[in-house]
Amino acid sequence: MAEVRLVNLAKAFGPVQVLKGIDLTIPDGEFVVLLGPSGCGKTTTLRLIAGLEEATGGEIFIGDRKVNDLPPKERDIAMVFQSYALYPHMTVYDNMAFGLRLHGVRREEVDQRVMEAAEMLELTPLLARKPRALSGGQRQRVAVGRAIVRNPKVFLMDEPLSNLDAKLRVQTRVELSKLHMKLGVTTIYVTHDQMEAMTLGNLVVIMNQGIIQQMGTPSDVYDRPANKFVAGFVGSPPMNFFPAFVDGEEELFFQMASFRLPVLPDHRAALAPYRGKEVVFGIRPEDVNMGGGDGAVHIPVTAKVDVLELLGAEIFLYLSSPEGTFVAAATSLSFIARVDPSTPAKEGDSVQVVFNLGRSHAFDADSERAIY
Ligand SMILES: Nc1ncnc2c1ncn2[C@@H]1O[C@H](COP(=O)(O)OP(=O)(O)O)[C@@H](O)[C@H]1O
Ligand SMILES: [Mg+2]
Repeated sequence: MAEVRLVNLAKAFGPVQVLKGIDLTIPDGEFVVLLGPSGCGKTTTLRLIAGLEEATGGEIFIGDRKVNDLPPKERDIAMVFQSYALYPHMTVYDNMAFGLRLHGVRREEVDQRVMEAAEMLELTPLLARKPRALSGGQRQRVAVGRAIVRNPKVFLMDEPLSNLDAKLRVQTRVELSKLHMKLGVTTIYVTHDQMEAMTLGNLVVIMNQGIIQQMGTPSDVYDRPANKFVAGFVGSPPMNFFPAFVDGEEELFFQMASFRLPVLPDHRAALAPYRGKEVVFGIRPEDVNMGGGDGAVHIPVTAKVDVLELLGAEIFLYLSSPEGTFVAAATSLSFIARVDPSTPAKEGDSVQVVFNLGRSHAFDADSERAIY
């Protein structure tokens, strides 16, 4: 086991700067999820740590060893890829044993490690089978097994569940969590799926365009997003954003296109410098309610139900508030509310909603950094 430390890590492919100075310390034994949209540099980061790609700047430490100049096989890592190509002509046993034999590990030890991993992954009854006789989930477990037998200091997993169907993905996710608890090996797990990241990681690192946006626990990044990107990327459906003017004297208001909300006393100091300026007001769908609800400030806003989505335990209302005259672009505001399934609202209805302002956010319109 080992800590992994990236210091100002940079990577360019020709003129294209893909990683722009990544600083990240992953504590020994931690399970960290690297989350970001496709193309943001997640795979590149893992390939640099693995030694499959050379950094153009910065340093990589595994434990207290700087590994920039070490070849992949001396870095003591094991990687599980999205396309976990198994050797089709080899049995499950041989697929897991192959890498160890290649490293010249003794036969008895190969056998012991493969049997142990197979036991852990419930593959023991399948050891004599060829990959084509396995389900997708079983093949995925063999790929994980192949990494486990290596006894690495660090696991790197690049979207390992993305080829599985939704149900199996949830199941395998739980298995990976349990496996990490058992093995305690430092793991860096890459995904573009925010749900997967939030449920798997003790720590989530959110990345965009080659830059780390925020690192924290799932509740840190959900409840206290550092900027508008994080706020919009984590959570489904995403946070509602409204352009808003900060208006008022002693008391401040968010003036939206067609309605106005008070700034809570707790948020006044942070917003004071923005008086007379535009900011972005943010609120999650679950904090837009039909009734009162705890902490809601009862300033009813009238909106029309454009679309209603019933998801069993909850309803998503896609709302629009009428055009207004306050903000330069007098467009109607669209937003989403997540409400109780007993809500009698129907498509086309005009409803009144309230905002739980205690759980609202505001972002600088230019830098997009969180104001509160
Ligand atoms: N070998 C390469 N040559 C040129 N560009 C590359 C290469 N590998 C990746 N890129 C580019 O780097 C960016 C990040 O890629 P990647 O790390 O694969 O993103 P992610 O895994 O987050 O989807 C993308 O724009 C991709 O096109
Ligand atoms: Mg990738």
